[in-house]
Amino acid sequence: MKGLRLHMNESPYPPSSKSIEYLLKYAYEVNKYYVDELQQELMNELSKYVGEDVSNIDILAGSSEGLILMLTYAKVRNKRLVATHPTFHIMYRLVEEFEIPLKLIELTDDGFKLEYEELIRSSEDSVVYLINPNNPTSNILIEDPDILRKVAKKAYALFIDEAYYEFSQKTFKELIHEHENVAILRTMSKAFSLAGARFGYMLASVNFKKELNKLKAGFNVPVTTQAMALGALKDLSYALDNVRKIINTREELRKSLRSVGLKTIESHTNFVLIDVGIPCGKVSEGLKSLGIYVVCFEKIDPLKDKLSKYIRVTVGKPEEMMEFTQNLIKTIESVNPTKQ
Ligand SMILES: Cc1ncc(COP(=O)(O)O)c(C=O)c1O
Repeated sequence: MKGLRLHMNESPYPPSSKSIEYLLKYAYEVNKYYVDELQQELMNELSKYVGEDVSNIDILAGSSEGLILMLTYAKVRNKRLVATHPTFHIMYRLVEEFEIPLKLIELTDDGFKLEYEELIRSSEDSVVYLINPNNPTSNILIEDPDILRKVAKKAYALFIDEAYYEFSQKTFKELIHEHENVAILRTMSKAFSLAGARFGYMLASVNFKKELNKLKAGFNVPVTTQAMALGALKDLSYALDNVRKIINTREELRKSLRSVGLKTIESHTNFVLIDVGIPCGKVSEGLKSLGIYVVCFEKIDPLKDKLSKYIRVTVGKPEEMMEFTQNLIKTIESVNPTKQ
């Protein structure tokens, strides 16, 4: 798909040259299922980066594999899933296909906040899935780890999706040492520019990791992907520099949208949720005809009630955001001339 890709929350920056270097180095070894020395170096580097022991880390083919693992776990243990509403849009479909009962905790209409008491009450004997900061709302749902301690105590299992950790710097990873049933999911798709390589990882207690591992087929993360992840971790400053640029661009974008009267939700991610004030389908179709791709949730059944007037937009490079903003304003004006 050519054009401006602002619909997938990918990084606008290419992978680190170290990722490419390691990819080429290990491409010669893909006749093997795994390469011991690579796996060890990767686990050590990841351990250094996350500040957790190797025994508490498991690597995944994208954090999406962790989501499937969570649903498989809920299914085989015969538990319901508790999630916020809105949550990651693919979750609604997956839960239906897996035939797992779903309990949704509605986020408030004023700023998509989470009602903690309802969450804690609903967690009883359930598999709880929380994204912090949340996708698609971009905000932090939970600040206080004590809330999650209460959830973990009641829940059968608690999965905290920290896909946007590098942008929020908020983590609850300490909970894996206090509760045997907590897992943290992370990805290198966003901050590390590796979406197409498919690399994620999970942090959990040794026992929980073992239980979840029983549900996995082996050799899930390709040698070449491991090599790219290792390269990216060896060039940490490149990724963190990109994160800083994206955060600056995001705040510039929010400022320029505010100046033309468009509201956004406070974001702790690499995307923004913009209130366009009119049905989002018209806006996203208008932008698409100009080669600009954004997400409108109007056609996703469970989300249209909450988000029909919002578009979700990935933060790209500064010049891309300027192009986007100009075209967004023109599109809104052409769809609805009364709206600035
Ligand atoms: C909250 C959340 N979880 C998981 C994922 C999947 O990421 P990955 O590329 O690691 O599979 C995404 C991707 O956008 C996401 O937003």
